[in-house]
Amino acid sequence: MTILNTAILGLQWGDEGKGKIVNFMAGNFGAACRYQGGHNAGHTLIVNGKKIVLHLLPSSICHKDSLSLIGRGVVISYDALFSEIEEISQHTSGIADRLKISPACVLIQPYHKLVDLYREKSNNQKNIGTTLRGIGPAYEDKVARRAIRVVDTLDEKQLRPLLEETLDFYNFSIEKFFGKEALSLSNLIDENLAFGEKVKPLLADVSMLIKQLNFKEKSVLFEGAQGALLDIDQGTYPFVTSSNCSPSGIAAGAGCGPLDVQNILGVVKAYVTRVGEGPMPTEIHDELGDYIAKTGGEVGATTGRLRRCGWFDAVLMNRIIQTNSIKGLCLTKIDVLDGLDEIKVCKAYADDETDTTFGECMDLDNVKPIYETLTGWKSPTKNLTNFDKFPQEAKDFISYIENICEVPVKIISTGPDSESTVLR
Ligand code: IMP
Repeated sequence: MTILNTAILGLQWGDEGKGKIVNFMAGNFGAACRYQGGHNAGHTLIVNGKKIVLHLLPSSICHKDSLSLIGRGVVISYDALFSEIEEISQHTSGIADRLKISPACVLIQPYHKLVDLYREKSNNQKNIGTTLRGIGPAYEDKVARRAIRVVDTLDEKQLRPLLEETLDFYNFSIEKFFGKEALSLSNLIDENLAFGEKVKPLLADVSMLIKQLNFKEKSVLFEGAQGALLDIDQGTYPFVTSSNCSPSGIAAGAGCGPLDVQNILGVVKAYVTRVGEGPMPTEIHDELGDYIAKTGGEVGATTGRLRRCGWFDAVLMNRIIQTNSIKGLCLTKIDVLDGLDEIKVCKAYADDETDTTFGECMDLDNVKPIYETLTGWKSPTKNLTNFDKFPQEAKDFISYIENICEVPVKIISTGPDSESTVLR
């Protein structure tokens, strides 16, 4: 058997429906592996008719024959991890046997969450609209080489001096800059050590596990969180998350070589959504935007915030597809557009002046979308499982996207259930 390690990642601003696709495909893989982000993600699955929302656990977690890996590029909140394990254990058994976590993961500490919150609430800082989970500050610590990692919580002698120094740094800014109450070192040490004991049985060398699985001819599915337009390097900076959600994050965050990813599939919605601040050229500001949000259930799975909605932006997608070695698309939520008279796709930006800066800087504030208007379809695509049954206008919409994005649409999702999926 040929190894086909495959990445499934979002190409827009997150919430593209990656969880459903990973859960749908996971049974064919030896493992699914999260490689970046933290519990800022919100991956919704329907398993046996029940809705499950995952934030940190890989979307393969309900598959009894696949491992679920958390690679070293993920930032972990112990609190969030163990609450999620407890909650998901109500839906599936044996999680502890299938979940493997890298001891090199950086931990999100309570001071990260506080600083994220204080910054977002403070008028002095640019408001990003973060998920307030402490993600950015935890990654800052990693790069500043003062992070507490999972491995540090296994031994008090290792943990104490590290935490003492890092907490000094944070307490200084918590007290002097934000004017709030300092955190207690002893409480933090006790909490971290208790969680360290609890996490021990789940730890594994994820990097070598991937190698071993491949050696046994089992492929691995790499599960991206957020989306390429939120990637710290190629997204709409500074309105981005703090990790590489795109394929460039896989080798570093999962612990494999760049050539160990043979297939990269991008998940895109048939329209676009965004939560938080930042540019969104095709945003729909009238009641049609509200209609799409309502019909598509566009409410953040992590934060409960309403998502901004817009038309499919093929200019951005084409760039992201070409620069990320995307081999095929999974098109989700096409059924949300059922019944609309017209459907627009942004095929170009009008403003030539800004075209020179749009590119690596993603300066999208002043671009003006030019739309192709396609005829909507009157008979529904909802829950269809056979492409031949699609109304012709929906087929035309998909062909248009394939042509302009220059990649095939390989999977189409027509509803939240696993069964509502078309493989092409
Ligand atoms: P952070 O990741 O919490 O630091 O938030 C940074 C930006 O990324 C904000 O605009 C968030 O709304 C956005 N973001 C983070 N995680 C997700 C996600 O899973 N889906 C959609 N947006 C996200």
